[in-house]
Amino acid sequence: MKNTIALSVLLIIASAAGAVAQNAPAKDLFASKCAMCHGPDGSAQTTMGKNLKIRDFHSSDVQKQSDGDLKTVITKGKGKMPAFDGKLTGQQIDQLVGYLREIGKQK
Ligand code: HEC
Repeated sequence: MKNTIALSVLLIIASAAGAVAQNAPAKDLFASKCAMCHGPDGSAQTTMGKNLKIRDFHSSDVQKQSDGDLKTVITKGKGKMPAFDGKLTGQQIDQLVGYLREIGKQK
């Protein structure tokens, strides 16, 4: 009986920790995999961003594209944009698209 209680407490702690980890990754992923070119805020005001003429994620040129279009660019790459197929899971890429939408809502 005691063991059952201890086990359920453990399970609750484990799932709570999982929930926290679910929220953070898009931002962390962006910071570790994308920010060196796209800038920490996605506006591409980095040396790389300027040299490669990367569009600001806040711009309508980027935001008018569908989730599917953005997902394809991230998955397959485009020009100097590296493909992340095999480096990130489809789920991680979906989270990044969601994060790009959040960036689009910020000024
Ligand atoms: C080596 C630099 C580099 C890295 C790292 C990089 N990108 Fe890019 N990205 C680019 C360039 C350059 C373009 C413009 C491609 C073009 O239009 O020819 C681009 C374009 C894009 C676009 C399309 C925007 C538009 O102009 O329509 C999206 C979306 C995007 N990147 C997302 C990401 C995400 C998410 C990551 C991280 C997982 C990432 N990129 C990492 C260089 C990079």
